Amino acid sequence: MLVVNTIAEVRAFIKARRREGKTVGLVPTMGYLHEGHASLIKKCREENDIVVVSVFVNPSQFGPTEDLEAYPRDFDRDCALCESAGVDIVFHPEPTEMYKTPKAYVNISTLSDNLCGKTRPVHFCGVCTVVCKLFHITMPDRAYFGQKDAQQLAIIKKMVKDLDFDIVIVGCPIVREIDGLAKSSRNIYLSSAERKAALCLSSSIKKGESMIIKGMKSDELIDAMRDVIEAEPMARIDYVSVVDAFTMKDVETIDGSVLVAMAVYIGKTRLIDNFSFEV
Ligand code: PAF
Repeated sequence: MLVVNTIAEVRAFIKARRREGKTVGLVPTMGYLHEGHASLIKKCREENDIVVVSVFVNPSQFGPTEDLEAYPRDFDRDCALCESAGVDIVFHPEPTEMYKTPKAYVNISTLSDNLCGKTRPVHFCGVCTVVCKLFHITMPDRAYFGQKDAQQLAIIKKMVKDLDFDIVIVGCPIVREIDGLAKSSRNIYLSSAERKAALCLSSSIKKGESMIIKGMKSDELIDAMRDVIEAEPMARIDYVSVVDAFTMKDVETIDGSVLVAMAVYIGKTRLIDNFSFEV
């Protein structure tokens, strides 16, 4: 497995493999890899000749008061996981390599206004900008993203469509701990009491999944899910919303493809979870 830090190196490696007729899959990450990332890499390994993993904590997707400095990092452990998962090349650039010049931004504003975009106004512009750059740098046939970040996945699919990228975006299921907590690099921030409290997210998701039916009012579903979270004193709800899975706009009634999504603070840690429902 090759580890490179510069755009020139990763490009040279991929161009050479492409000349051999090989297909390329990309798994973009911010590192501190867990089983959720491992599932993306596994799928990428199955579907492509060459597997590229990028490890880059992208400053432009963090707001000024967010956890950029504290964001967990363990590059040696990430490399060990990548090596054992059969990754061909890890691209691990410095911010100065990725953002050499004044930035051009990519903004898919229509899908970014609701849900996480409300509380994190610069986040999705930063995500789209870096993912767009990674696509241009690595020119993959396929790129892999987790459904835990459902809004991110919808925005990236829209970006690919609107900007005519010839890349298949593959969404992969949420990976959970045995007790239901969705895997996330940010789970490391939780104290043991907070870790227990964080189960209110997956309990609320289970509640929602058990009661959702076509034609019901979204408010009825949201109220029941909020009740589960509000029973946990350490939890503070950012949002629990039911949206159209393609437009990310709130819907009043359950119909078509909907995304039921939430963000909840447990102490200072903001966690997200969701499920989809198709009528
Ligand atoms: O999902 C993430 O880890 C990040 O948002 C991504 C897609 C790697 C862009 O920095």
